Amino acid sequence: GDNVLYLAHRYNIEMEGACEASLACTTCHVYVKQEYFDKLPEADEVEDDLLDLAPFLKPTSRLGCQII
Ligand code: FES
Repeated sequence: GDNVLYLAHRYNIEMEGACEASLACTTCHVYVKQEYFDKLPEADEVEDDLLDLAPFLKPTSRLGCQII
């Protein structure tokens, strides 16, 4: 799918995604600008649980591979 991780790769922007969007890592952790964060559907429980393990978590943290 066209999640942020794949879009980044398509445009040659370096972004980690160790588990290839299968919700098994936190390497795709990103901070989303507040104005865009507010427009995104909320993270589901699996993403939230993983985010809790991400270093330097912020209120606007998301897993990039889950942002569509
Ligand atoms: Fe692993 Fe996003 S690439 S959760």
